[in-house]
Order: sequence, then C-alpha cells, then structure tokens
Amino acid sequence: MFETVTPPEPDKIIRLMGMFAADPRVDKVDLGVGVYRSPEGKTPVMAAVKAAERAIWERQESKGYVGLRGDPGFIEAMRRLILGDAVPEARVAGAGTPGGTAAVRQVLESVHRLQPGATVWISDPTWPNHPAIIDHLGQKRRSYRYYDAASGSLDREGMLADLAEARRGDLILLHGCCHNPTGVDPALADWRALADLCARTGAIPFVDMAYQGFGDGLEADAAGVRLLAEALPEVFVAASCSKNFGLYRERVGVVLIVTEAKAAAEGVLAGMNRQNFAFPPDHGARVVQDILSDQTLGDAWRAELEGMREVMAGNRRALAQALRGATGSDRFGFLAAHRGMFSLIGASPEQVDILREKHGIYLVGDGRMNVAGLTAAAIPRVAAALAEVLA
Ligand code: LMR
Repeated sequence: MFETVTPPEPDKIIRLMGMFAADPRVDKVDLGVGVYRSPEGKTPVMAAVKAAERAIWERQESKGYVGLRGDPGFIEAMRRLILGDAVPEARVAGAGTPGGTAAVRQVLESVHRLQPGATVWISDPTWPNHPAIIDHLGQKRRSYRYYDAASGSLDREGMLADLAEARRGDLILLHGCCHNPTGVDPALADWRALADLCARTGAIPFVDMAYQGFGDGLEADAAGVRLLAEALPEVFVAASCSKNFGLYRERVGVVLIVTEAKAAAEGVLAGMNRQNFAFPPDHGARVVQDILSDQTLGDAWRAELEGMREVMAGNRRALAQALRGATGSDRFGFLAAHRGMFSLIGASPEQVDILREKHGIYLVGDGRMNVAGLTAAAIPRVAAALAEVLA
C-alpha cells in the first residue's frame, strides 16, 4: 500500500527539531520548538509535578479505565483554572484529550460534524497545525489580519474588519494568550470588541489556550476567554497543560464548551473520544488534578510557574537591550513588549537559513523565536548574529 506513497512533509516546527538534533555543533542555540528552558538550558520536571507523581505512585492501585471523557475531577479543576467564575459549572461541558492538539482536533471535528458548512477563521499568522488540521478535516477556512509587522503590534482594525465577514455558526479561532507565533495579544478592549462582533454576527469563538501563566500570570492570561464566556452563549476552548505544567510528553489537554446544552455536548465529546482514541491518557491529567486541588502543591506550582514566566520576560528584556547595543537603534524594542515564548523577529526565510547555517542559531522559518531558548551566555552571541544578518 505504501510503495508509491510520498509521505507528507513534516511542518516547519517538526522539521526544525530534526535539523537541530542532527547538528553536531556544541554551541548551537535552539530557539525553535515551543518548549520552556531554564537559565541552565534545561526543560525540568516541575517540583510540584514530581511530588504529585510520587504520591500517585504510592496510592494508585489500579490502572483500569476511567471514562471516555477522562476524570471529571480533572475537567472541573481545568474549568476553574481557565474560566474561574465566568460561567456556572452547569453551563460548561468538558472532556479530557491527549494534549492540547487533540483538544483542538476534537473541537474542530465536532463543529465539522454538526455544522459542515461552517468556515473556521484563523489569524494570519498562526500555529501551523491549525490550518493543517482544518484542511485534513476538509473544513472551509479563511484568514483574518492579526499582526502589524511594521509596529510589532496587533492589527486591530484589520482583524475586526476581516472578522466582520464571519457568518452565523462560523468558528473564530483565537489564541487565549501568548499568541503563537507573534507574541502579540489582544488587550481587554479588543476582547470586548471580539465579543461584540461574535454577538452581532453569530460567529462562535474558539479559544486555543496553550500558554496560560506564561504571559502576565494565570488570572490575567485568562481574562480574554473569561470575558467571552461571560458575554456569549457558546464558546469553545481547547487547553494544553504541556507548557504551564511542563507535561509535554504526557499529553494532557482538555476541551471545554460553554453551552446551554451541557449533557448533549458531553455526549458528543465522549463519542468522538471513543472513535478517535477511546480514553484520554490519565497519568498527567491526574497530576494536574492533584496539584490544582491541593493547597501546598498548588502554591508550589504557581510559584515555579511564576519563576518561569519571569525567566522568559527577563530573556526578552536582556535580548532587546543587547540588540539596542548591537544595532544602536530600538528596532527590536518590541521584543520586550511581547508576551510568552514567541516573537516574530522580522527575519526572511533566507536570513533564518543564514542564522542557522552560519551561526548555529535555530529559528522557525517564518522568523519565530522561542525566547525561552535564550541563556545569559547565548544572548550576546544571538544579538550580534541578528544585528549582522538582519542589518
Ligand atoms: C510550538 O508551537 O512550537 C509548540 O506548540 C510545539 C508544537 O507542537 O508545535
């Protein structure tokens, strides 16, 4: 069956991971895939995660199946973390998934099944797996303007003008915080404008929440999605615990749907889980549930997450300052204003190639930089290389 098949090209992030792994240079710098790194360049298991895992190992007596939607305690903990008091529990359906990607996939697939004609609106640019999944499902998609490259900020007018063409039942995919790849988030007034636009057009927001806690803090990062949930009858959320709990390989994600038809929505999600992978993974979800339901573990996790957030914000400030020194201008000042792991540095694909080949500095082809990959030792070198190549 496969003799004549050309396998699909891996997307630009996955391709870059392979290139970085194959590069023998010891001083190479990975600013590609979205993985947190400590100042020592490590992706640590968080202390609260270790403690929760130890306790689970001690007390767990069965690995029997839990349920098609995973553990209700995990879903409830995630509902509180993301939506807070924005809507009552009775209006939120939920299901666990293998990572945030499967959560995105389950939302898109449910909408595809229930409203096959709906268009999914994605920001230009966005995470490459968004259009890939939409296309795989055979959904209609359109892009909306999002990023003003000249100023390194939100193209508010462009975004709202494009989205004004959305129709009733269309899905508007928004990044809850720490927009990937731009690092530019809507302000609260922009979220309000998006809520008004959805109320007016009947389009439904779909919030991809992959970096809660990496931007301005756990509560501040959820303000946009909470505003939408308060204002609108229906909101989809796909959330990931890969980054804020450091549980990348455990695959921990959740779908939340704000709806008046909770039981029906949960039935749809359970059925779709059954057909796609049956039961979501339990271990990482249990770790998250334990951390979020225990005061001591929860406090330790929040403190460590805050520390990670500060490392990334510090890297942003340090690189912006080093670039100010290297270029004699404030051209890269936007780096310090952006949020989360990513910024678009403004490099062309050719410049990205030069940075990688000549300097061993790995950025995604669109010029996306993961600032968490910077270390104090690497920052002067990265700044000098950027100043030279982007001159
Ligand atoms: C990224 O954008 O680098 C991460 O979300 C990892 C991934 O799966 O692409």
